[in-house]
Amino acid sequence: MLFPPHSMYNRLYVYYLDRMDLPRVDDPDHIGTWIEDDNAILFFHTPKDDLVRDICSTSGSEIIYQADLDYQDWEAGTNITSFATKTLAVQPVWENNKGQYDGFQKIILDPSVIFGSGFHATTRLCLETLELVLNQSGEKIESVLDLGTGTGLLAIAAAKFGVDHITAVDNNPLACEVARRNVQLNRCDAQVRVKQLDLKSEIPDIGRYDLVIANLYKELLLTLVSNTEFWNAKMYMLSGFIVGMEPELLASFPSREIIFLHRGNREKWRLWLLKKKKAGL
Ligand SMILES: C[S@@+](CC[C@H](N)C(=O)[O-])C[C@H]1O[C@@H](n2cnc3c(N)ncnc32)[C@H](O)[C@@H]1O
Repeated sequence: MLFPPHSMYNRLYVYYLDRMDLPRVDDPDHIGTWIEDDNAILFFHTPKDDLVRDICSTSGSEIIYQADLDYQDWEAGTNITSFATKTLAVQPVWENNKGQYDGFQKIILDPSVIFGSGFHATTRLCLETLELVLNQSGEKIESVLDLGTGTGLLAIAAAKFGVDHITAVDNNPLACEVARRNVQLNRCDAQVRVKQLDLKSEIPDIGRYDLVIANLYKELLLTLVSNTEFWNAKMYMLSGFIVGMEPELLASFPSREIIFLHRGNREKWRLWLLKKKKAGL
């Protein structure tokens, strides 16, 4: 995340360690620590070989590899900048748009090194469909569950579109930290609760939510949609899959109980907006 003296991301210095139980990293150039498969990936704004060597010797860990790269390369070549949907403008913390988006709902975002800047096709599909559902569909959506929230962008957008009860979950502790910070930056604390949770071993109480958003990788989507407990909400927005994956996904869920409302396309990516049929229909 960005804290003074840093006001944007330029070069990233990345250290991949073979353990996840590290001492707290107290350094002004530390962007965050990403935990994945029992490993820790440390991100800094500047080279930190000595500091990371110290961390390794106190924790008994080793550097598996290290790299440095431009932030734009980390973001798959995308220049992260402001953008807008029909009614919502999303602005990275380092930009100032000086009236360019007057009349729009606004989100200020620190995307850090987490998925969910708004520039991936699946995030944009979800954002635009969310806007459609919450602003134009006439569906009564009072609660939203965002599974795999990343930066928190979709959860915060739901709050900006007027939803009062939103739970955002992610298994990556750094994603949760970033999402919490973005929730604070956008003053949505009263509406959005961020929770660290691994969807492979636990799913939240889905029946409490009107809309479930799941922009996830295919295997996790398959696990979720195969679980009958997953189908206790009213509506679903699923993304993170490409056209070739649709038949397998479709075969894994109780399609007779589900109405297809919308199928979104962007590049090779797809989105499904689904509604659970009322009992007896
Ligand atoms: C494709 S990204 C979507 C991020 C954001 N919702 C968006 O639409 O841009 C998927 C997110 O799911 C999270 N995730 C992956 N596996 C997970 C798991 N087992 N439990 C919870 N979250 C998971 C990742 O950390 C990542 O932030």
